[in-house]
Amino acid sequence: MNTIKACIFDLDGVIVDTAVYHYKAWKRLANSLGFDFTEHQNEQLKGVSRVRSLQLILGWGGVTKTEAEQEQLATQKNIWYMEMVNQMKPDEILPGAKEFLTTCRKVGLKTALGSASKNSMTILEKIGITDMFDAVIDGNKVSKAKPDPEVFLAGAQALGVFPEECVVFEDAIAGVEAAVAGDMKVVGIGSPDVLTGANLVIKGLDEMTLDKLYKL
Ligand code: BG6
Ligand code: MG
Repeated sequence: MNTIKACIFDLDGVIVDTAVYHYKAWKRLANSLGFDFTEHQNEQLKGVSRVRSLQLILGWGGVTKTEAEQEQLATQKNIWYMEMVNQMKPDEILPGAKEFLTTCRKVGLKTALGSASKNSMTILEKIGITDMFDAVIDGNKVSKAKPDPEVFLAGAQALGVFPEECVVFEDAIAGVEAAVAGDMKVVGIGSPDVLTGANLVIKGLDEMTLDKLYKL
């Protein structure tokens, strides 16, 4: 029997390709400090909070900074990141995202955003899809970062459904782990080699259908 009542979507890398902007901004920051990091290392930053990402990057570069300096660096990264975000247009929504959200809503499935990003609302407004979500849980509303399930559990609660009735869409290893820890089904967006914990992995929401959703 099908018991799925809601879909919870990560933002960066699932609805919009801001994962690339995060990568570029962090790379610029690392380069300004005299080192670099690999795309493989970047996978570990996906879904991870701004502060934690910075700590990981500084660790890879073997650089130590005071708390005040870290705050400054995180602010600088966000300035560079937002320069790119502010140029975003509605056509930057990833293929199939708007269509799948529309399909979900048409058949009565609830929809929520579950993102670590404190910039979520700005991005949703930029691409004009704020009204497609029944609830938005972002980095301003949670204190525990993915892989803790807090963001998704708060989403389920805001929608008035049980965790087992939710399907999470995630591009990050930490996000897949968070969904599993929250007792939710999870569709990975990306590579099956990377997102090993997901129930199903697709390349993008343009590959998603209700049929696949109900078979999870
Ligand atoms: C996540 C991204 O969605 O949000 C991470 O995958 C990012 O890369 C995190 O660090 C926090 O985002 P922001 O916009 O608050 O810096
Ligand atoms: Mg993501």
